[in-house]
Amino acid sequence: MNILLIGSGGREHALAWKLAQSPLLDKLYAAPGNPGVAEHAELVALDLADHAGVVTFCEAHRIGLVVIGPEAPLVDGLADSLRAGGFSVFGPGRLAAQLEGSKGFTKDLCARADIPTAGYVRAKTAAEAHAALDRFGAPVVIKADGLAAGKGVVVAMTLPEAQAAVDEMFDGAFGAAGAEVVVEEFLSGEEASFFALTDGATIVPLASAQDHKRVGDGDTGPNTGGMGAYSPARVLTPELEAQTISRIIAPTVKAMADDGMPFSGVLYAGLMLTDEGPKLIEYNARFGDPECQVLMMRLESDLVELLQACADSKLSSIEPPRFSAEPALTVVLAAKGYPEAPAKGGRIDGIRAAEAAGAKVFHAGTTLGMHGALTASGGRVLNVTARGQSVGAARDAAYAAVDAIVFPDGFCRRDIGWREVEREG
Ligand code: AMP
Ligand code: GLY
Repeated sequence: MNILLIGSGGREHALAWKLAQSPLLDKLYAAPGNPGVAEHAELVALDLADHAGVVTFCEAHRIGLVVIGPEAPLVDGLADSLRAGGFSVFGPGRLAAQLEGSKGFTKDLCARADIPTAGYVRAKTAAEAHAALDRFGAPVVIKADGLAAGKGVVVAMTLPEAQAAVDEMFDGAFGAAGAEVVVEEFLSGEEASFFALTDGATIVPLASAQDHKRVGDGDTGPNTGGMGAYSPARVLTPELEAQTISRIIAPTVKAMADDGMPFSGVLYAGLMLTDEGPKLIEYNARFGDPECQVLMMRLESDLVELLQACADSKLSSIEPPRFSAEPALTVVLAAKGYPEAPAKGGRIDGIRAAEAAGAKVFHAGTTLGMHGALTASGGRVLNVTARGQSVGAARDAAYAAVDAIVFPDGFCRRDIGWREVEREG
Protein backbone atom coordinates (compact mmCIF):
# COMPACT_ATOMS: atom_id res chain seq x y z
CA MET A 1 0.00 0.00 0.00
CA ASN A 2 1.09 3.56 -0.69
CA ILE A 3 0.77 6.01 2.20
CA LEU A 4 0.80 9.81 2.28
CA LEU A 5 1.99 11.31 5.58
CA ILE A 6 1.14 14.95 6.26
CA GLY A 7 3.40 17.08 8.47
CA SER A 8 7.01 18.14 8.96
CA GLY A 9 8.06 17.71 12.58
CA GLY A 10 9.67 15.19 14.90
CA ARG A 11 6.30 13.51 15.34
CA GLU A 12 6.13 12.87 11.61
CA HIS A 13 9.71 11.58 11.46
CA ALA A 14 8.85 9.08 14.22
CA LEU A 15 5.67 8.04 12.37
CA ALA A 16 7.57 7.69 9.08
CA TRP A 17 10.28 5.60 10.77
CA LYS A 18 7.69 3.25 12.22
CA LEU A 19 5.48 3.11 9.10
CA ALA A 20 8.59 2.20 7.08
CA GLN A 21 9.13 -0.89 9.28
CA SER A 22 5.84 -2.39 8.09
CA PRO A 23 5.77 -5.08 5.39
CA LEU A 24 2.37 -3.63 4.39
CA LEU A 25 4.00 -0.42 3.11
CA ASP A 26 4.91 -0.15 -0.57
CA LYS A 27 5.77 3.51 -0.93
CA LEU A 28 5.64 6.36 1.54
CA TYR A 29 5.13 9.96 0.44
CA ALA A 30 5.37 12.87 2.85
CA ALA A 31 4.13 16.45 2.52
CA PRO A 32 6.14 18.43 3.26
CA GLY A 33 8.32 16.16 5.47
CA ASN A 34 11.88 17.02 6.52
CA PRO A 35 15.39 15.61 5.94
CA GLY A 36 14.79 12.88 8.56
CA VAL A 37 11.45 11.88 7.04
CA ALA A 38 13.22 11.79 3.66
CA GLU A 39 15.19 8.73 4.82
CA HIS A 40 11.90 6.81 4.54
CA ALA A 41 9.72 8.76 2.15
CA GLU A 42 9.59 10.70 -1.08
CA LEU A 43 8.94 14.31 -0.11
CA VAL A 44 6.26 16.15 -2.05
CA ALA A 45 5.39 19.82 -2.02
CA LEU A 46 1.60 19.97 -1.63
CA ASP A 47 -0.44 23.02 -0.68
CA LEU A 48 -2.37 21.55 2.27
CA ALA A 49 -4.97 24.32 2.06
CA ASP A 50 -5.79 23.16 -1.50
CA HIS A 51 -7.81 20.08 -0.60
CA ALA A 52 -8.68 19.31 -4.23
CA GLY A 53 -4.97 19.32 -5.06
CA VAL A 54 -4.23 16.83 -2.27
CA VAL A 55 -7.07 14.57 -3.50
CA THR A 56 -5.68 14.73 -7.05
CA PHE A 57 -2.22 13.74 -5.76
CA CYS A 58 -3.72 10.77 -3.90
CA GLU A 59 -5.54 9.61 -7.04
CA ALA A 60 -2.42 9.91 -9.19
CA HIS A 61 -0.23 8.00 -6.71
CA ARG A 62 -2.79 5.35 -5.73
CA ILE A 63 -2.64 6.30 -2.05
CA GLY A 64 -4.27 3.67 0.19
CA LEU A 65 -4.03 5.63 3.45
CA VAL A 66 -3.44 9.25 4.39
CA VAL A 67 -1.97 9.87 7.86
CA ILE A 68 -2.45 13.44 9.08
CA GLY A 69 0.05 14.37 11.81
CA PRO A 70 -0.63 18.00 12.88
CA GLU A 71 -3.81 19.62 14.17
CA ALA A 72 -4.15 22.53 11.72
CA PRO A 73 -5.11 20.46 8.63
CA LEU A 74 -7.47 18.37 10.81
CA VAL A 75 -9.27 21.44 12.14
CA ASP A 76 -9.33 22.72 8.55
CA GLY A 77 -11.27 19.63 7.38
CA LEU A 78 -8.61 18.01 5.18
CA ALA A 79 -9.74 14.55 6.39
CA ASP A 80 -13.32 15.28 5.27
CA SER A 81 -12.22 16.31 1.78
CA LEU A 82 -10.09 13.17 1.41
CA ARG A 83 -12.87 10.90 2.69
CA ALA A 84 -15.30 12.54 0.27
CA GLY A 85 -12.76 11.67 -2.45
CA GLY A 86 -12.92 8.01 -1.40
CA PHE A 87 -9.66 7.81 0.57
CA SER A 88 -8.95 6.16 3.94
CA VAL A 89 -7.68 8.74 6.40
CA PHE A 90 -6.11 8.47 9.83
CA GLY A 91 -7.34 11.54 11.70
CA PRO A 92 -10.68 13.14 12.57
CA GLY A 93 -12.83 15.32 10.35
CA ARG A 94 -13.42 19.01 10.99
CA LEU A 95 -16.35 18.61 13.39
CA ALA A 96 -14.67 15.92 15.50
CA ALA A 97 -11.40 17.89 15.55
CA GLN A 98 -13.26 20.59 17.52
CA LEU A 99 -12.20 18.51 20.54
CA GLU A 100 -8.85 20.22 20.00
CA GLY A 101 -9.91 23.24 17.96
CA SER A 102 -12.36 24.71 20.47
CA LYS A 103 -11.74 24.54 24.20
CA GLY A 104 -15.30 25.72 24.87
CA PHE A 105 -16.71 22.91 22.69
CA THR A 106 -14.83 20.33 24.76
CA LYS A 107 -15.84 21.86 28.09
CA ASP A 108 -19.51 21.83 27.03
CA LEU A 109 -19.18 18.19 25.99
CA CYS A 110 -17.63 17.35 29.38
CA ALA A 111 -20.51 19.09 31.13
CA ARG A 112 -23.12 17.17 29.09
CA ALA A 113 -21.42 13.78 29.50
CA ASP A 114 -20.43 14.27 33.17
CA ILE A 115 -16.70 13.97 32.40
CA PRO A 116 -14.43 15.11 35.26
CA THR A 117 -12.78 18.42 34.35
CA ALA A 118 -12.17 21.89 35.86
CA GLY A 119 -15.21 24.12 36.40
CA TYR A 120 -15.46 26.77 33.65
CA VAL A 121 -17.22 29.71 32.07
CA ARG A 122 -17.18 30.52 28.34
CA ALA A 123 -16.89 34.25 27.73
CA LYS A 124 -17.50 36.09 24.46
CA THR A 125 -16.71 39.55 25.88
CA ALA A 126 -14.10 40.92 28.25
CA ALA A 127 -16.88 41.94 30.65
CA GLU A 128 -18.17 38.36 30.87
CA ALA A 129 -14.63 37.09 31.44
CA HIS A 130 -13.94 39.66 34.20
CA ALA A 131 -17.19 38.67 35.92
CA ALA A 132 -16.04 35.03 35.81
CA LEU A 133 -12.68 35.98 37.32
CA ASP A 134 -14.48 37.63 40.23
CA ARG A 135 -16.39 34.41 40.78
CA PHE A 136 -13.42 32.02 40.54
CA GLY A 137 -10.78 34.11 42.36
CA ALA A 138 -7.05 33.30 41.97
CA PRO A 139 -5.31 31.12 41.02
CA VAL A 140 -7.31 30.78 37.83
CA VAL A 141 -6.71 29.70 34.24
CA ILE A 142 -7.59 31.71 31.10
CA LYS A 143 -7.61 30.02 27.69
CA ALA A 144 -8.10 31.32 24.17
CA ASP A 145 -10.86 29.16 22.69
CA GLY A 146 -9.16 28.31 19.39
CA LEU A 147 -5.83 26.94 18.18
CA ALA A 148 -2.96 29.13 19.38
CA ALA A 149 0.04 26.89 18.74
CA GLY A 150 0.10 25.80 22.38
CA LYS A 151 0.44 29.39 23.59
CA GLY A 152 -3.14 30.40 24.36
CA VAL A 153 -3.22 29.32 28.02
CA VAL A 154 -2.39 31.56 30.99
CA VAL A 155 -2.24 30.04 34.45
CA ALA A 156 -2.62 33.18 36.61
CA MET A 157 -1.58 33.03 40.24
CA THR A 158 -3.08 36.47 41.03
CA LEU A 159 -6.22 38.31 39.92
CA PRO A 160 -4.35 41.27 38.35
CA GLU A 161 -2.38 38.78 36.23
CA ALA A 162 -5.65 37.09 35.23
CA GLN A 163 -7.30 40.42 34.38
CA ALA A 164 -4.34 41.41 32.22
CA ALA A 165 -4.51 38.06 30.39
CA VAL A 166 -8.21 38.53 29.65
CA ASP A 167 -7.62 42.04 28.30
CA GLU A 168 -4.74 40.85 26.12
CA MET A 169 -6.80 38.04 24.63
CA PHE A 170 -9.73 40.32 23.83
CA ASP A 171 -7.24 42.84 22.41
CA GLY A 172 -6.31 40.18 19.85
CA ALA A 173 -3.06 38.71 21.27
CA PHE A 174 -4.06 35.34 19.75
CA GLY A 175 -6.06 36.68 16.83
CA ALA A 176 -9.35 34.93 16.08
CA ALA A 177 -8.42 32.10 18.48
CA GLY A 178 -8.94 34.52 21.37
CA ALA A 179 -12.23 36.03 20.21
CA GLU A 180 -13.80 33.78 22.84
CA VAL A 181 -12.09 32.66 26.04
CA VAL A 182 -12.64 29.97 28.64
CA VAL A 183 -12.08 30.88 32.29
CA GLU A 184 -11.29 27.81 34.31
CA GLU A 185 -10.93 26.65 37.87
CA PHE A 186 -7.26 25.96 38.75
CA LEU A 187 -6.52 22.27 39.27
CA SER A 188 -3.55 21.03 41.23
CA GLY A 189 -1.82 17.70 40.88
CA GLU A 190 0.65 15.98 38.59
CA GLU A 191 0.03 16.03 34.83
CA ALA A 192 0.11 12.99 32.57
CA SER A 193 -0.98 12.27 29.02
CA PHE A 194 -2.89 9.28 27.78
CA PHE A 195 -3.28 8.18 24.17
CA ALA A 196 -6.00 5.97 22.69
CA LEU A 197 -7.02 5.10 19.16
CA THR A 198 -10.70 5.14 18.35
CA ASP A 199 -12.68 4.65 15.15
CA GLY A 200 -15.72 6.29 16.68
CA ALA A 201 -16.97 3.08 18.32
CA THR A 202 -14.09 0.87 19.50
CA ILE A 203 -11.41 2.25 21.83
CA VAL A 204 -7.88 0.84 21.68
CA PRO A 205 -5.70 2.14 24.53
CA LEU A 206 -2.14 2.91 23.49
CA ALA A 207 0.10 4.22 26.27
CA SER A 208 0.80 7.07 28.67
CA ALA A 209 3.54 9.71 28.65
CA GLN A 210 4.71 12.80 30.49
CA ASP A 211 6.30 15.80 28.87
CA HIS A 212 8.22 18.84 30.09
CA LYS A 213 6.60 22.04 28.87
CA ARG A 214 8.87 24.70 30.43
CA VAL A 215 11.99 25.69 28.55
CA GLY A 216 14.41 25.55 31.50
CA ASP A 217 15.80 22.99 33.93
CA GLY A 218 13.73 22.57 37.05
CA ASP A 219 10.57 23.40 35.05
CA THR A 220 11.35 27.12 34.85
CA GLY A 221 10.91 29.76 32.15
CA PRO A 222 8.26 30.10 29.45
CA ASN A 223 6.07 27.31 28.13
CA THR A 224 7.12 25.52 24.95
CA GLY A 225 5.67 22.80 22.73
CA GLY A 226 7.61 20.34 24.91
CA MET A 227 11.32 20.01 25.72
CA GLY A 228 11.29 16.27 26.27
CA ALA A 229 9.05 13.35 27.22
CA TYR A 230 9.03 9.80 28.42
CA SER A 231 6.67 6.86 28.30
CA PRO A 232 5.11 5.23 30.24
CA ALA A 233 4.07 7.71 32.94
CA ARG A 234 3.90 5.39 35.88
CA VAL A 235 1.96 7.90 38.01
CA LEU A 236 -0.93 6.91 35.77
CA THR A 237 -1.29 3.52 37.50
CA PRO A 238 -3.33 0.74 35.86
CA GLU A 239 -6.22 1.74 38.15
CA LEU A 240 -6.05 5.44 37.17
CA GLU A 241 -5.71 4.43 33.52
CA ALA A 242 -8.86 2.31 33.78
CA GLN A 243 -10.68 5.31 35.35
CA THR A 244 -9.41 7.55 32.55
CA ILE A 245 -10.84 5.21 29.95
CA SER A 246 -14.18 4.62 31.65
CA ARG A 247 -14.85 8.14 32.97
CA ILE A 248 -13.18 10.31 30.30
CA ILE A 249 -12.35 8.58 27.00
CA ALA A 250 -15.38 6.26 26.66
CA PRO A 251 -18.02 8.92 27.43
CA THR A 252 -16.28 11.30 25.00
CA VAL A 253 -16.30 8.76 22.18
CA LYS A 254 -19.96 7.95 22.87
CA ALA A 255 -21.04 11.60 23.09
CA MET A 256 -19.28 12.46 19.82
CA ALA A 257 -20.94 9.52 18.05
CA ASP A 258 -24.35 10.36 19.57
CA ASP A 259 -23.95 13.95 18.36
CA GLY A 260 -23.33 12.75 14.80
CA MET A 261 -19.61 13.61 14.67
CA PRO A 262 -17.83 10.35 15.51
CA PHE A 263 -14.17 10.88 16.36
CA SER A 264 -11.77 8.73 14.34
CA GLY A 265 -8.05 8.94 15.03
CA VAL A 266 -5.93 9.27 18.14
CA LEU A 267 -7.38 10.95 21.20
CA TYR A 268 -4.66 12.54 23.29
CA ALA A 269 -6.00 13.33 26.74
CA GLY A 270 -4.03 15.82 28.86
CA LEU A 271 -4.86 14.86 32.44
CA MET A 272 -4.44 16.35 35.89
CA LEU A 273 -4.13 13.62 38.50
CA THR A 274 -6.02 15.26 41.36
CA ASP A 275 -6.95 13.98 44.80
CA GLU A 276 -10.36 13.22 43.33
CA GLY A 277 -8.94 11.19 40.44
CA PRO A 278 -7.91 12.05 36.88
CA LYS A 279 -9.52 15.17 35.40
CA LEU A 280 -9.37 16.22 31.76
CA ILE A 281 -7.29 19.37 31.12
CA GLU A 282 -7.64 19.26 27.36
CA TYR A 283 -7.91 17.01 24.33
CA ASN A 284 -5.70 16.97 21.30
CA ALA A 285 -6.95 15.30 18.13
CA ARG A 286 -3.53 13.96 17.09
CA PHE A 287 -0.36 12.43 18.50
CA GLY A 288 1.69 14.62 20.85
CA ASP A 289 4.99 16.07 19.76
CA PRO A 290 7.40 14.91 21.28
CA GLU A 291 5.21 12.28 23.01
CA CYS A 292 4.73 10.42 19.70
CA GLN A 293 8.49 9.89 19.47
CA VAL A 294 8.57 7.92 22.74
CA LEU A 295 5.41 5.99 21.89
CA MET A 296 6.84 4.92 18.52
CA MET A 297 10.11 3.94 20.22
CA ARG A 298 8.13 1.51 22.41
CA LEU A 299 5.56 0.27 19.87
CA GLU A 300 6.22 -3.31 18.78
CA SER A 301 3.09 -3.79 16.64
CA ASP A 302 2.70 -2.89 12.97
CA LEU A 303 1.80 0.81 12.81
CA VAL A 304 0.34 0.55 9.28
CA GLU A 305 -2.08 -2.15 10.43
CA LEU A 306 -3.12 -0.08 13.46
CA LEU A 307 -3.67 3.21 11.64
CA GLN A 308 -5.43 1.51 8.72
CA ALA A 309 -7.79 -0.37 11.06
CA CYS A 310 -8.56 2.93 12.76
CA ALA A 311 -9.19 4.71 9.44
CA ASP A 312 -11.40 1.86 8.17
CA SER A 313 -13.43 1.46 11.40
CA LYS A 314 -12.03 -2.02 12.01
CA LEU A 315 -10.38 -1.54 15.39
CA SER A 316 -12.68 -4.20 16.89
CA SER A 317 -11.02 -6.87 14.75
CA ILE A 318 -7.32 -6.28 15.46
CA GLU A 319 -4.96 -7.60 18.11
CA PRO A 320 -4.29 -5.08 20.89
CA PRO A 321 -1.08 -3.16 20.20
CA ARG A 322 2.04 -4.34 21.98
CA PHE A 323 4.47 -1.91 23.63
CA SER A 324 7.92 -2.69 24.97
CA ALA A 325 8.00 -2.84 28.76
CA GLU A 326 11.16 -0.75 28.52
CA PRO A 327 10.57 2.98 29.00
CA ALA A 328 11.60 5.42 26.28
CA LEU A 329 12.76 8.99 26.77
CA THR A 330 13.35 11.82 24.32
CA VAL A 331 15.41 14.98 24.76
CA VAL A 332 14.58 17.96 22.53
CA LEU A 333 17.54 19.86 21.12
CA ALA A 334 16.25 23.36 20.43
CA ALA A 335 17.78 26.35 18.69
CA LYS A 336 19.13 29.03 21.06
CA GLY A 337 16.47 31.66 21.67
CA TYR A 338 13.57 29.17 21.58
CA PRO A 339 10.69 29.68 22.26
CA GLU A 340 10.75 33.47 21.69
CA ALA A 341 13.23 33.88 18.83
CA PRO A 342 15.01 30.67 17.80
CA ALA A 343 18.24 31.17 15.86
CA LYS A 344 17.92 29.75 12.34
CA GLY A 345 20.66 28.21 10.28
CA GLY A 346 22.85 26.68 13.00
CA ARG A 347 24.93 23.81 11.68
CA ILE A 348 24.38 20.28 13.04
CA ASP A 349 26.90 17.44 12.97
CA GLY A 350 27.35 14.11 14.70
CA ILE A 351 23.95 12.49 14.21
CA ARG A 352 25.57 9.28 13.01
CA ALA A 353 27.79 9.18 16.10
CA ALA A 354 24.75 9.82 18.30
CA GLU A 355 22.88 6.91 16.75
CA ALA A 356 25.94 4.69 17.07
CA ALA A 357 25.71 5.43 20.81
CA GLY A 358 22.36 3.63 20.79
CA ALA A 359 19.73 6.35 20.31
CA LYS A 360 17.40 7.33 17.48
CA VAL A 361 17.59 10.96 16.39
CA PHE A 362 14.33 12.28 14.97
CA HIS A 363 14.45 15.49 12.93
CA ALA A 364 11.99 18.16 14.08
CA GLY A 365 13.21 21.40 12.52
CA THR A 366 16.09 20.76 10.13
CA THR A 367 16.89 21.52 6.55
CA LEU A 368 19.66 20.54 4.16
CA GLY A 369 21.76 23.58 3.39
CA MET A 370 24.56 24.15 0.93
CA HIS A 371 26.74 21.12 0.13
CA GLY A 372 24.37 18.83 2.06
CA ALA A 373 25.11 20.34 5.48
CA LEU A 374 22.31 19.86 7.96
CA THR A 375 21.11 23.10 9.56
CA ALA A 376 18.44 24.18 12.04
CA SER A 377 15.24 25.60 10.59
CA GLY A 378 12.85 25.61 13.54
CA GLY A 379 12.59 26.12 17.29
CA ARG A 380 12.70 22.47 18.21
CA VAL A 381 15.37 20.94 16.00
CA LEU A 382 16.14 17.32 16.99
CA ASN A 383 14.55 14.73 19.29
CA VAL A 384 17.19 12.40 20.68
CA THR A 385 15.29 9.29 21.75
CA ALA A 386 16.39 6.12 23.55
CA ARG A 387 15.04 3.13 25.44
CA GLY A 388 16.43 1.55 28.58
CA GLN A 389 15.58 -0.84 31.39
CA SER A 390 14.47 2.13 33.51
CA VAL A 391 13.70 5.77 32.80
CA GLY A 392 17.10 6.53 34.32
CA ALA A 393 18.81 4.17 31.88
CA ALA A 394 16.85 5.57 28.92
CA ARG A 395 17.81 9.07 30.05
CA ASP A 396 21.49 8.16 30.30
CA ALA A 397 21.41 6.64 26.79
CA ALA A 398 19.63 9.70 25.36
CA TYR A 399 22.05 12.19 26.95
CA ALA A 400 25.08 10.13 25.84
CA ALA A 401 23.75 10.54 22.30
CA VAL A 402 22.98 14.25 22.84
CA ASP A 403 26.60 14.73 23.83
CA ALA A 404 27.75 13.19 20.53
CA ILE A 405 25.84 15.85 18.57
CA VAL A 406 27.69 19.02 17.60
CA PHE A 407 25.19 21.89 17.43
CA PRO A 408 26.81 25.08 18.81
CA ASP A 409 23.62 27.11 18.25
CA GLY A 410 21.49 24.64 20.15
CA PHE A 411 20.59 23.80 23.74
CA CYS A 412 18.58 21.26 25.68
CA ARG A 413 17.26 20.68 29.17
CA ARG A 414 19.53 18.40 31.18
CA ASP A 415 16.84 17.07 33.52
CA ILE A 416 14.28 15.35 31.29
CA GLY A 417 12.59 12.56 33.24
CA TRP A 418 13.53 13.96 36.67
CA ARG A 419 10.23 13.12 38.38
CA GLU A 420 10.33 9.52 37.31
CA VAL A 421 14.06 9.11 37.92
CA GLU A 422 13.49 10.43 41.47
CA ARG A 423 10.70 7.91 41.96
CA GLU A 424 12.96 5.13 40.69
CA GLY A 425 15.30 6.13 43.56
P1 AMP B 1 -3.55 23.18 27.70
O1 AMP B 1 -3.04 23.84 26.46
O2 AMP B 1 -5.04 23.29 27.91
O3 AMP B 1 -3.00 21.79 27.90
O4 AMP B 1 -2.86 23.97 28.90
C1 AMP B 1 -1.48 24.13 28.96
C2 AMP B 1 -1.00 23.88 30.36
O5 AMP B 1 -1.65 24.78 31.26
C3 AMP B 1 -1.35 22.50 30.89
O6 AMP B 1 -0.43 21.54 30.51
C4 AMP B 1 -1.34 22.75 32.37
O7 AMP B 1 -0.02 22.76 32.88
C5 AMP B 1 -1.90 24.14 32.50
N1 AMP B 1 -3.34 24.09 32.76
C6 AMP B 1 -4.34 24.11 31.85
N2 AMP B 1 -5.53 24.06 32.46
C7 AMP B 1 -5.30 24.03 33.78
C8 AMP B 1 -6.15 24.02 34.94
N3 AMP B 1 -7.47 24.03 34.84
N4 AMP B 1 -5.54 24.00 36.16
C9 AMP B 1 -4.20 24.02 36.27
N5 AMP B 1 -3.36 24.06 35.23
C10 AMP B 1 -3.89 24.06 33.99
N1 GLY C 1 3.71 18.11 23.57
C1 GLY C 1 2.46 18.75 23.59
C2 GLY C 1 1.65 18.64 22.38
O1 GLY C 1 1.95 17.93 21.44
O2 GLY C 1 0.61 19.29 22.31
